[in-house]
Amino acid sequence: MKCFHYFKDKTRSRSQRSAPILKAETNLSLSEDVSSCKDRVTKSSGSTNSPRGIIELYEEKAEKLRVFTYPELRHATNDFTRLRKIGEGGFGCVYKGTIKPIDAKGDPIVVAIKKLNQDGFQGHKQWVAEVQFLGVVDHPNLVKLIGYCAMDGERGIQRLLVYEFMPNKSLEDHLFRKSHDPLPWQRRLQIMLGAAQGLAYLHEELEAQVIFRDFKTSNILLDEDFNPKLSDFGLAREGPTEGNTHVSTAVMGTHGYAAPDYIETGHLTAKSDVWSFGIVLYEILTGRRSLERSRPKEDQKLIDFVRRYPIDSKKFGIIIDPRLEARYSLTDARKIAKLADSCLLKSAKDRPKMSQVVESLKQILDVSTEGSPSNKSYEVGDDEPGELTEKSKMGEVSDSSKRRLAQLAKLSEHVGGVSKKGFMIMHRAKVS
Ligand SMILES: Nc1ncnc2c1ncn2[C@@H]1O[C@H](COP(=O)(O)OP(=O)(O)OP(=O)(O)O)[C@@H](O)[C@H]1O
Ligand SMILES: [Mg+2]
Repeated sequence: MKCFHYFKDKTRSRSQRSAPILKAETNLSLSEDVSSCKDRVTKSSGSTNSPRGIIELYEEKAEKLRVFTYPELRHATNDFTRLRKIGEGGFGCVYKGTIKPIDAKGDPIVVAIKKLNQDGFQGHKQWVAEVQFLGVVDHPNLVKLIGYCAMDGERGIQRLLVYEFMPNKSLEDHLFRKSHDPLPWQRRLQIMLGAAQGLAYLHEELEAQVIFRDFKTSNILLDEDFNPKLSDFGLAREGPTEGNTHVSTAVMGTHGYAAPDYIETGHLTAKSDVWSFGIVLYEILTGRRSLERSRPKEDQKLIDFVRRYPIDSKKFGIIIDPRLEARYSLTDARKIAKLADSCLLKSAKDRPKMSQVVESLKQILDVSTEGSPSNKSYEVGDDEPGELTEKSKMGEVSDSSKRRLAQLAKLSEHVGGVSKKGFMIMHRAKVS
């Protein structure tokens, strides 16, 4: 199968944006890609999924989403002024704005509004996926979608998404931008746990399994208390249906994070996310990006770098983020590196499930199942330098929900009409 590799290049500066580079091609139907993946699931052994898919769940839950008009969102952002711009990804700009509460009473609500680029169908496809998945999920470690706007006017098509505002930006900003203070050790551990819980919910706690497919530090947003919330469901896919082990897809994701087995075969499973989680664990430990092209060849890939300093060797401490100075637990760092290695096992089936990852992290953080992490006190240990101790029934579908579903289905068709070609997309990881 030939595929288009569509490299999203947003590496080096805030102003540089995605630069698609076409490499190969595939022939997957786009409308299929945004709706059910059932017909593209490859039959093999084993199964995890329920008969109710994302579409059915969306039908039931979509009512909670608000539908905004374009003028409303233009007003909310002062006509999308640059002054309100808070970020930019490969598929559009993000603005800070304020909207009226639903009953128009009370204080305005601060929101983040993502305005998708008007060029190209990939943005539309991602928009539909984002609305569908975020319309269904509900978890403290997933960003909330408040609503959306779809307008087809004389000036082209507009697709926007309105999210809860996350005041502390992304994990990427805090780990890799020197303008931010280094994240303290305990906070790093709590972010690891919260992000793992978000993924475990998607993989194991929903009626239909959701594979995130683009797990990376820029998609982990931080709220006012630095609680992590996963954002960007544009590449998310429904997991395999009953009797199947994986979903066959065009390969999409970000260089440096995508599992090698997925890149090679296009077979997507929840274990592809587990691999990406392992990479992010190492990024949090080391303060280094998964790919750093400015470094000598042998050090460019984070995985190659960390493997040169085995966990049980005296040299292990070399990999730890120097910005932490001595304020971390080497013992816990070793446990996290071991966990990361298990997520990075070559064979996908040998990687742990995210619920197991959550349990391991809870043990490391010393968290009771219900409780919040204990405030371990950290003291310098004497063994090594730098060591410190420290679902509703289907029920009646309302008319408005039906309308929304019909609208979304129509928009999906529209997207399908733009191009029948599937794409193989790999965002280029940010590199320094
Ligand atoms: N809900 C939000 N609240 C606050 N800021 C946000 C929110 N969503 C996005 N942002 C900001 O906008 C930036 C860009 O987000 P976006 O998801 O568009 O791109 P990205 O994650 O950097 O790259 P990619 O296109 O690969 O996903 C984020 O890094 C973050 O700083
Ligand atoms: Mg993102």
